Amino acid sequence: MSLVLPGSIVLSKYDKYSPVDVPWEDLWHIFVIANDKGGAGKTSVTANLALMLLKKLQTGDPANGVPGDPDARVLVIDLNAQGNLTVHEFGASDELNDHGRGILLALKDGTPLKPVTVRAGLDLVPGGSELKEDVTPIYNRLMQSFTLNADLRLLQCLLPIAGDYDYIIIDTPPENPTLQRLAMGAGRWVISPAKTDRGSLDGVLEMKNQFETTREVNPLLTLLGVVLFATGRKAKLIHAKAEERLRTILGSAYYKFPTNIGHSEAVAQESRDIDSEPLVALFDRSERGDASLPETVRTVHDDYLKLTDQVIARSAALKKIIEES
Ligand SMILES: Nc1ncnc2c1ncn2[C@@H]1O[C@H](COP(=O)(O)OP(=O)(O)OP(=O)(O)O)[C@@H](O)[C@H]1O
Ligand SMILES: [Mg+2]
Repeated sequence: MSLVLPGSIVLSKYDKYSPVDVPWEDLWHIFVIANDKGGAGKTSVTANLALMLLKKLQTGDPANGVPGDPDARVLVIDLNAQGNLTVHEFGASDELNDHGRGILLALKDGTPLKPVTVRAGLDLVPGGSELKEDVTPIYNRLMQSFTLNADLRLLQCLLPIAGDYDYIIIDTPPENPTLQRLAMGAGRWVISPAKTDRGSLDGVLEMKNQFETTREVNPLLTLLGVVLFATGRKAKLIHAKAEERLRTILGSAYYKFPTNIGHSEAVAQESRDIDSEPLVALFDRSERGDASLPETVRTVHDDYLKLTDQVIARSAALKKIIEES
């Protein structure tokens, strides 16, 4: 790789004496899921991708002689004050859930994130109401002393544990440029889910603006692609229009994953209703081929399976191109 990567980062007066060295070439496993608009599918894509990636690693590919890895590990970081991912998708118990306190403290002090284990191989840094405390003052303080390097604060907190995982996925909140930039500063790939409506597509534009700024300090940050979310399977004309708008927004960085995540009222209900089971339980039932599940739940499960394969293949192909350039 001929690209000159930033060396060590200094993000506090103490770091001056032992700056943090960033192993840029070892961070190909970190994904950021971002769209500035609410309800675009960020949390759903994060949760499903994490569960599918873990499953794939644990199962391996026996047909092609690839053994499963029982020690595979995936980490998910929930940067949302709503904590939907933590509670509704992963069903984190009260004992495990610090409601985002750990993230806030780590960002304040530049200390390592402390994940909890949700199920074998799946760790979570919980989000929640503690993140309602605005992180912008923390970020602004760092910005005053260390300018754009402030975008690397979450990376600084993640680095001590990043090597423990096969994949790390960061779920970002809407309309929160500070947390979005901190997430992008810590990631290698950005996946942007979007609905086909104008607001959601404009959210991709905002995401792109954050992306371009953060790329100044994280030059390997790469837009992996956009995935259309909760959309009708037959809405070809609407899809074509959305693609046209996305091409205009993203220019040469445009890429849309071939698989869209289909619309399913049943998925929406099952995954967020107060009394319903968390997505992890629904996921397990889909995996077992539970015939009592509504058909659309199973077809959406298949959409995520295909998307996961496409994410793995595209990130591997782009990694090769980037490394050879
Ligand atoms: N396949 C689907 N079809 C229709 N609705 C869905 C589907 N999957 C999830 N939903 C619902 O869509 C809504 C938005 O999804 P999600 O929470 O993933 O978006 P988000 O971008 O994370 O939102 P926010 O910006 O508020 O965090 C949720 O209420 C969810 O239950
Ligand atoms: Mg969300």
